[in-house]
Amino acid sequence: MKHYTSINDIDNINSWIKEAKEIKANPLKNIELGKNKTLGMLFFNSSLRTRLSTQKAALNLGMNPIVMNVSGDAWGIEFGDGTVMNGNTAEHIKEAAAVVSQYCDIIAVRAFPTLTDKEKDQSEQVLNSFVKFASVPVISMESATGHPLQGLTDAITVSENSTKKKPKVVLSWAPHIKALPHAVGNSFVQAMQKMDVEFVITNPEGYNLSKEITKDTPILHNQKEAFKDADFVYTKNWSSYDDYGKILNTDPNWTITKEKIGNAKFMHCLPVRRNVVVEDAVLDSDSSLVIEQANNRTFAAQLVLKKILENN
Ligand code: CP
Repeated sequence: MKHYTSINDIDNINSWIKEAKEIKANPLKNIELGKNKTLGMLFFNSSLRTRLSTQKAALNLGMNPIVMNVSGDAWGIEFGDGTVMNGNTAEHIKEAAAVVSQYCDIIAVRAFPTLTDKEKDQSEQVLNSFVKFASVPVISMESATGHPLQGLTDAITVSENSTKKKPKVVLSWAPHIKALPHAVGNSFVQAMQKMDVEFVITNPEGYNLSKEITKDTPILHNQKEAFKDADFVYTKNWSSYDDYGKILNTDPNWTITKEKIGNAKFMHCLPVRRNVVVEDAVLDSDSSLVIEQANNRTFAAQLVLKKILENN
């Protein structure tokens, strides 16, 4: 594996989960592997967990992480080919990616979608430009259409908390006041499709994720029916995919409550809006795995960095 930009880069999810658990049990075992290696972390968007957990993962491998908030702190980057750069962008991605490659052994990039230009978002212009023009491996720290570090984290967390051979996992849409990306939902779907779980998605009409992602995973528009006998309820808001980037529904009847999920474990990638997406009684209960998920972000990132360091 040279780059890690999608859940599809995972060749065998069970062996990856096993290795992540070994890393978690002994996080400093490979402290020499990344010695004198530099991880450049470029953020076009905000972050708490991804930023800190990926830095921590790099430090656990003996790497030196360098972090830059690209939006605001760097020169405006031009991604268009053949553009006459007489507008707001001062540096082309061809130079920017090549230059960062002089300072870093691995480049990690976070770049959210526009949610207004579906074609541009689907093309993954920012992430794919780094892959194309950097001379070193590239990791997605969440792109327009995927959040593979989160998806791997979630697979590890489901595995750790499963008490059944084949648990029932439900991905439920929940309301939100802002139009949010599809990335977390997409990567969670792809991760669960690789695992031996009974997997169901529930969302209101008009909110189906891309058919290219969901494939033959069942999608129910009745949340109550979907939650029946669930062992895990993973919750996330996303804007409409078909009516791209639009908020079509803010129905609080989709908010996750203790009564609805019963004995199921609750999962969310965070940050989460309390009492909009999920009620306090769920987040403050023993059923909530959200802090455990955040902890596992370090070991997912460490596994990805380890594999890239070993293979390049
Ligand atoms: N879950 C997640 O990616 O969190 P941040 O946006 O804070 O990095």
